[in-house]
Amino acid sequence: MAVIAVTKERKAGETRVAATPETVKKLTAGGFSLVIEAGAGAGASFPDADYEAAGAAIAKTAQDAIAKADVLFKVRAPEADEIQALKSGAYVVALLNPHNDKATIEALAQKGASAFAMEFVPRITRAQVMDALSSQANLAGYRAVIEAAEAYGRALPMMMTPAGTIAPAKIFIMGVGVAGLQAIATARRLGSVVTATDVRPATKEQVESLGAKFIAVEDEEFKAAETSGGYAKEMSAEYQAKQAELITGHIAKQDIVITTALIPGRPAPRLVTAAQVASMKPGSVLVDLAVEQGGNVEGAKLGENVITANGVTIMGHANLPGRIAADASALYARNLMAFAELFKDKEGGFAPDLEDEILKASLVTHGGAVVHPSLKA
Ligand code: NAI
Repeated sequence: MAVIAVTKERKAGETRVAATPETVKKLTAGGFSLVIEAGAGAGASFPDADYEAAGAAIAKTAQDAIAKADVLFKVRAPEADEIQALKSGAYVVALLNPHNDKATIEALAQKGASAFAMEFVPRITRAQVMDALSSQANLAGYRAVIEAAEAYGRALPMMMTPAGTIAPAKIFIMGVGVAGLQAIATARRLGSVVTATDVRPATKEQVESLGAKFIAVEDEEFKAAETSGGYAKEMSAEYQAKQAELITGHIAKQDIVITTALIPGRPAPRLVTAAQVASMKPGSVLVDLAVEQGGNVEGAKLGENVITANGVTIMGHANLPGRIAADASALYARNLMAFAELFKDKEGGFAPDLEDEILKASLVTHGGAVVHPSLKA
């Protein structure tokens, strides 16, 4: 049966891994052979011995792992030397960051690999179990609240003590997709008073069902802001001005602001200006989850915590899922395990059907060329 290789992630700060002992065991039972590079799971607390016990072979180097593999599983895109080590016609599955990392997509094409971008898995019911954007965004939303709580010098819940009452923290979530919903739920569980905003009307009910208050400019443009794919459109300058006006007074009263707003294939919308940050009280915290796509908060810096002149912290963590590496890996590895099932035919043999709806939608390179419609020049 086909061999799946998993190598250690090389990108700085990438602690996740594309298989766990749990998925190794299940993939092996399902007929695959697994080869794991030594130390691949260390950043997520999965020791080599656990992979071996689950049925994997341990390879000393990435090259050794990849050389015989039919499939390479990764969190991030493979590096140049990993691509070089691929067998001709090998399959690669990873979060390839296809819109921004064109050089890697080109290199995969030139090597003749059939590479799948997990970002392009369609959001259809059958593919939910493979939806890596959702599995990782969910944990990022949770972790954003934990990071904010850690940096905030006060408590989140209301506390009644003999020495007096502590007021609950006010937390504002901007962008209520998968990450934002989890951030609301986490902030509520920790006892804070939560408000949230989004441009998609469907989010109003979701916000309210989690016990938070919804705040938004609900005009005609808002009513039409959701695309057929369920994502947000880029809003007009007029809408953005009305949104800014509504939110200015609100932000000044918040203790923590978490921003998660994204528009597929576009830079993240700017939602919080430097003047709004300056209006917040000293000790307030902003967490910008969109910082890798350009940021929602003016002044946010990728990979840094910026402290402004008025004592507000703007957190710009790269890779929040990587800060909860064991669970993020466990969910991502299950996403890949489900994806690997698509590589089998009805009899369980290794025969990927590239006409399958999910494989077709996520295939970015094949037969020596870049094949995804959104990436072709
Ligand atoms: P995302 O990561 O693309 O964006 C995050 C949020 O930012 C979205 O809710 C978006 O509306 C919001 N946003 C964009 N521009 C904004 C602005 N100017 N101001 C305020 N908010 C703004 O979204 P995500 O998390 O990928 O979810 C997108 C949709 O997909 C949701 O409807 C979600 O429920 C749906 N979904 C469906 C799945 C399925 O059917 N299998 C799986 C996961 C999500």
